[in-house]
Amino acid sequence: MKVDIIFTADDIKREKIEGRNIVVIDVLRATSVMVTAMARGVEEIHVFKDVEEVFEAGRGRVDAILCGERRGLKVEGFHYGNSPLEYGEEIEGKRMYMTTSNGTKALVGSNSGRRVFTGSFLNLDAVVKRVLEEDEDLVVVCAGTDGEFSLDDALCAGMIAEGIAQKKREAEFTDSALAMRDIALGCREPKDRLAGSRHYSYLESIDFHEDLDYCLSLNLYDIVPEYREGVVRAGRLQD
Ligand code: MLT
Repeated sequence: MKVDIIFTADDIKREKIEGRNIVVIDVLRATSVMVTAMARGVEEIHVFKDVEEVFEAGRGRVDAILCGERRGLKVEGFHYGNSPLEYGEEIEGKRMYMTTSNGTKALVGSNSGRRVFTGSFLNLDAVVKRVLEEDEDLVVVCAGTDGEFSLDDALCAGMIAEGIAQKKREAEFTDSALAMRDIALGCREPKDRLAGSRHYSYLESIDFHEDLDYCLSLNLYDIVPEYREGVVRAGRLQD
């Protein structure tokens, strides 16, 4: 099993991901929203790159929740934004139609992976367990922010790589994965490492303080959502 890390959605190249398992990470906040919505019982999350595609796909569907963000804020005409704390039990059994600035772009770009899971701090240990069960080469795809490296995603990717290293001695790591394992080493409180980073500071500036506390919490869920042919569905770990 070899583990690689890609730092932005723009850096995804078909030859790097094809046939490999993928974990897509957008800690702040798309993949944190996805695992939360799955925990609240949403049926499916249909994922799109563009706002217009969401309106088009959701048209005429009574159970459709149109959701996501641009510049961190709810899109005009959508039902929900991209704060995980908005999503309560009322979404049970419904379908979400979602677009975000970077997270959904990273998922759509990862289409040619073998199996594509979504990861976050909220389901970190469950993700490590799942990819170890799979025992296939793995690429952790960080969504990044507008084509730039984003420390929140990279730290989470490093913690996944470190979790794999601790359980599987013979796993191999690319240089990017080794570097992120180093930054993740000994991290128990992601929030302490991320204060001052770019997207963290932006979300603070638009008053999403509670989202930061929530999205940077470890292991609230044992759900590993899986993306296939444009749709994310829940996958719960079997003990
Ligand atoms: C994204 O996809 O860029 C993020 O999820 C943005 C956000 O914080 O809502």
